[in-house]
Amino acid sequence: MPDRVFVTRRLPGPALARLAESVTVDLWPEDLPPPPEVLRERASAAAGLLSLLTDRIDAVVLDAARWLRVVSNMATGCDNIDLVAATARGIPVGHTPGILTETTADLAFALLLAGARRVVEGDRFVRDGRWRTWDPSALLGEDVHGATLGLVGFGAIGQAMARRAQGFEMRVLYSRRSVTPAPLGLSATPVPLDTLLRESDFVSLHVPLTAETRHLIGARELALMKPRSLLVNTARGAVVDQQALVEALRSGRPGAAALDVMTVEPIDPHDPLLTLPNVIVTPHIGSASRATRERMAMLAVENLLAGLAGQRLPHCANPEVYGSG
Ligand code: NAP
Ligand code: GLV
Repeated sequence: MPDRVFVTRRLPGPALARLAESVTVDLWPEDLPPPPEVLRERASAAAGLLSLLTDRIDAVVLDAARWLRVVSNMATGCDNIDLVAATARGIPVGHTPGILTETTADLAFALLLAGARRVVEGDRFVRDGRWRTWDPSALLGEDVHGATLGLVGFGAIGQAMARRAQGFEMRVLYSRRSVTPAPLGLSATPVPLDTLLRESDFVSLHVPLTAETRHLIGARELALMKPRSLLVNTARGAVVDQQALVEALRSGRPGAAALDVMTVEPIDPHDPLLTLPNVIVTPHIGSASRATRERMAMLAVENLLAGLAGQRLPHCANPEVYGSG
């Protein structure tokens, strides 16, 4: 009998058809994620789980899933999964890094440009019928070319941002966990986080959400930023203390924020953050190009099938599950 896998949402492209060639696919057909009790119940009969970042896979789900041999998350970040619990139960967790690097950096840079040059405010201005003349003092923003970009996290996406910044002749600073130098040919200077925050005109976040990075950017860090600086977040909402950010933006330091990710997603439409004119919010669309989402879905299927076949996952978020061998 073929293995049964639970897939928590419809996916773009041919990935699900590929999966159905090898296994029995139990597909959650709704537009919204399966509620926790449904996830638990459907996982209990599954040998594999293809999850999204909206699905919380914790010890309770894993314990209910008695036959489970692999979890495959269609995302780079796996903060929705209790990796320690999965490892303790011998379950490898797949994820999809690499293939979405450039697409996510495109969005981060788009947010940087849009925030600096007040593109979204400008659009609102026109639609509201407020465009009466060419005004020498209206909607003045900040230059991106020649400015200083601070990258918090300098892995795949952080470095892709640095490559984009070179085309704009920006000075690039970065901070990361290790002391690994920038790759050859990439002009970027490692600095402590506080220096980066003090000196950058634009600060862009590219760290995973972990116990160490939760609220990495809080009231103290925000107060270090330049008055007209812009904070871009395409990492995870909880890397920033969102309440502190609202207060900081009200006081003008930083001057603006452009955010693809929120502490709670979706954000409540009445959230105070959305009342601020100097904030751009997009609905977690960093990797949302047609080609990249199709590749992510296919890679998630490849991870899943490898796990079901007892092979090492091409991209495993908890490699310690394989021990030292
Ligand atoms: P990556 O290649 O693993 O890079 C992560 C970077 O964060 C590394 O430079 C790492 O430092 C640094 N880091 C980790 N923990 C840190 C800490 N405690 N303090 C300082 N730096 C730390 O990951 P990536 O592919 O660039 O992706 C980064 C994150 O972006 C993902 O985890 C995900 O949450 C998010 N993401 C969001 C979207 C979206 O749609 N908005 C799309 C893709 C990814 P070292 O280099 O020293 O290890
Ligand atoms: C998206 O946020 C991802 O981590 O892939």
